[in-house]
Amino acid sequence: MGQGGGPAPAGLPAPPGTSFASDNAAGVLPEVIDALAAANHGSALAYGADPWTARAAALVGGVLGRPDAEVAFCWGGTGANVVGLQCLLRPWEAVICPDTAHIHVDECGAPERFTGCKLLAVPTPDGKLRPEQIEPFLAVVGDEHHVQPRVVSITQSTESGTLYRPEEVAGLAEVAHGNGLHLHLDGARLANAAAALGADVASFTADAGVDVLTFGATKAGAMYGEAVVFLRPELGRDVRFVRKQAAQLPSKMRFVAAQFEALLADGLWVRAAAHANAMAARLAERLAGAPGVVVTRRPEVNAVFVRLPSAAAVADLQAWSFVWAWDVARHEVRAMTSFATTDADVDAFAAGLAAIAARHL
Ligand SMILES: Cc1ncc(COP(=O)(O)O)c(C=O)c1O
Repeated sequence: MGQGGGPAPAGLPAPPGTSFASDNAAGVLPEVIDALAAANHGSALAYGADPWTARAAALVGGVLGRPDAEVAFCWGGTGANVVGLQCLLRPWEAVICPDTAHIHVDECGAPERFTGCKLLAVPTPDGKLRPEQIEPFLAVVGDEHHVQPRVVSITQSTESGTLYRPEEVAGLAEVAHGNGLHLHLDGARLANAAAALGADVASFTADAGVDVLTFGATKAGAMYGEAVVFLRPELGRDVRFVRKQAAQLPSKMRFVAAQFEALLADGLWVRAAAHANAMAARLAERLAGAPGVVVTRRPEVNAVFVRLPSAAAVADLQAWSFVWAWDVARHEVRAMTSFATTDADVDAFAAGLAAIAARHL
């Protein structure tokens, strides 16, 4: 039986011990489990009126270099994006984002449903929006026949495994702010970006002009929970009402907060992401030159995009060790690493993938 659930093609090595399907396929960092157990003593007031939440919010603000930031913990990433965006928008307004954005393609229309707003999705070669792609939408500002652009939303690191440098974020912020728009950042993989850029998180968020962001914990090794952060606190004045209506207010919030504390207190989240990124780099190295295998982009974070010779090769790979197809027409798949991926997992996955590709030449 392969990891894909069906019979694995015969004659292949054993599949790796961890899945390359998603960083969400990983378990939870032991330090986070310990923090959850430690928080499980006695009573604490619900809905965030507990000491864990106060400490974790302070840590989030501190990491972002904005101690006065408004921090609202949520259950999950889609919810955090919805809550953050809803605080910025009225129903006739719109969000400009890359057409690969999670808010556009992977949230079942939740942002549109909850905000009532249109997403204006723009094609990009690499998941990264450019300032000049905002400008065409500005021509309709003030015209009642058109939705009014109000938010620019980017993802860091992107769904395509790429990164914005701090100056690229600042360039987007300049155009957005110069035209009365807000800059939103989906930071589901903020830790991977911080590790890859080797930079202070503030340098590519608060200091670069981001107004609101989703601060991801799940992919960094938490069990669940993300935060919406308003770097300009006045933008978050309604967040508590919005979060509750969006069903994103965890009652036993101390358990979300305890996970953030474990991740942020001593930089664990970035160390864990640095490991994930290193595993992706190792995978790309191991695959380089394998016949029939094309690594389509040098991995910048923890995603490796690989083209195989045919759809049948992709199906064999999925049956042996499941990964998601990224571009079906090009036989391209996405392999993702996490804090839990080991050197041995990478080597096993690379060997099996190369063997499958060779069979389909
Ligand atoms: C870029 C991005 N944003 C947000 C999310 C959060 O999604 P979820 O609602 O599954 O926690 C994900 C998860 O895959 C993601 O990749």
